Amino acid sequence: MPKWLKDAVFYEIYPQSFYDTNGDGIGDFNGIIEKLDYIKSLGCNALWINPCFDSPFHDAGYDVRDYKKVAPRYGTNSDLYRLFGEAHRKGIHVLLDLVPGHTSEEHPWFLESQKAEKNEYSNRYIWTNAAFQPAKGFLYIGGETERDGVYVLNFFKCQPALNYGFLNPEEDWQLPMDHPDCIATREAMKDVMRFWLDHGCDGFRVDMAASLVKNDDEKKSGTSAVWKNVREMLDAEYPEAAMISEWNEPELAINQGGFHMDFYLNWSGNGYSTLLRDYEMGEDRSFFKKDGSGDIRRFLDEYLPRYEATRENGYYCLITCNHDTKRPKYNLDDSELKIAYAFLFTMPGVPFLYYGDEIGMRYLELKTKEGGYGRTGSRTPMQWTNEKNAGFSTCPADALYLPVDTTEGAPSVAAQEADENSLLSTVKDLLRLRHEEEDLQADGDFEVVYAESGMLPFVYRRGSLLLALNPSTERVSAPVAAADAEKKVFYAIGNGEVKGQEILLAPQSFVVLK
Ligand code: NOJ
Repeated sequence: MPKWLKDAVFYEIYPQSFYDTNGDGIGDFNGIIEKLDYIKSLGCNALWINPCFDSPFHDAGYDVRDYKKVAPRYGTNSDLYRLFGEAHRKGIHVLLDLVPGHTSEEHPWFLESQKAEKNEYSNRYIWTNAAFQPAKGFLYIGGETERDGVYVLNFFKCQPALNYGFLNPEEDWQLPMDHPDCIATREAMKDVMRFWLDHGCDGFRVDMAASLVKNDDEKKSGTSAVWKNVREMLDAEYPEAAMISEWNEPELAINQGGFHMDFYLNWSGNGYSTLLRDYEMGEDRSFFKKDGSGDIRRFLDEYLPRYEATRENGYYCLITCNHDTKRPKYNLDDSELKIAYAFLFTMPGVPFLYYGDEIGMRYLELKTKEGGYGRTGSRTPMQWTNEKNAGFSTCPADALYLPVDTTEGAPSVAAQEADENSLLSTVKDLLRLRHEEEDLQADGDFEVVYAESGMLPFVYRRGSLLLALNPSTERVSAPVAAADAEKKVFYAIGNGEVKGQEILLAPQSFVVLK
């Protein structure tokens, strides 16, 4: 386990929209380099950058055309190497996005694979043996290639699935996992990883990590075996490199697959979604809404068993949002976000902050861009100042990659830096606290103290610290044990205190006691 993860706080950067230094309307590596001090000032000491590789951008770069070359719109490979170096000098680790399940349909491997003549790449993707033989049970495309067969997709039409084999092949076109051509796919992906790690990257966020081996069983034993093999390589050659999976099954991803971290993703109606995104299920009873209609048990009942089952082996990680989901500002105001972030940044595991969430950027209703569809509104340019294009770019407004939020009162970094009560200032305070208190970091103990269904506050312990939060507009209280009654508040949003054998919390408050 890379030791640096223990105190890591990640900042996710959608590179298109972070900071544009050459005035072409789209973000670039030099822009990220210029803003490293800002990232550091937040208390973030690690980055995850969404795919920044050569791509036709039919899925915002998750359709990779060349794994080893960056997209010219962000700069050159040398610029990215320089970004690694500058980040390291400031104590910031950098993860790239690895997309191992599929490539772009324009990737040279696929161009070879679709040829009629057999070649080294014929089995790099999953093909049936004839254009009129369907790939039953899969998304597939036929009739587009000179090769007589149909090919399997992993996501959009532009993303043919790479071939890691089938756990239990059932048809003549399905290769077993140990077929040399399937092993070659895995080795090719390791080669990509080594390439970037050798140039200074610190690991990978892994896209659709569960998708590799087809016809896998419920336990994903085939796909896990591939990842275990990758982990062995990393342990031997790059023991400080970190891997986080887009999987959301930590028992499988961490315990079986050997990932260091797994994301707790917003799957509709799941535990994480009940915190901030309950509207996906209709009526919004998100726990952090101030109307107090939420219930922390809806989160805990799913989270706790997963946390307990994986805590010895890795980190189950909480996010403010990501490039695939609506920003938390969609249904929560800044006062609600402060309490939500207090929770997200004091829980075990490694927290991930999505760019712009620190100032409460809004979700915009926008036409789709680069395969974003409903996700596009969370990918708009970072709002740095109240000046032209929110300080993101000097280009004409109609040349921006996506429009900036021009609504009255749209938040900006500059405005919130000058306000000690801003959401941004709260984020900084919370992250400073996390770095100062070892108990609050990734592997500090976690224990639920008071979490009654439909009741507030929520009280929990991290090591020797006692934490309590009240998202509602009512005053609330909970009993505390005699030993905790001695503890004193040393950090608070709002107000709280221990009186006798009770902890009392003012509306929308969060306290940490020592
Ligand atoms: C998950 C990524 O987060 C998403 O943005 C992408 O469209 C799909 N995987 C396909 O790669």
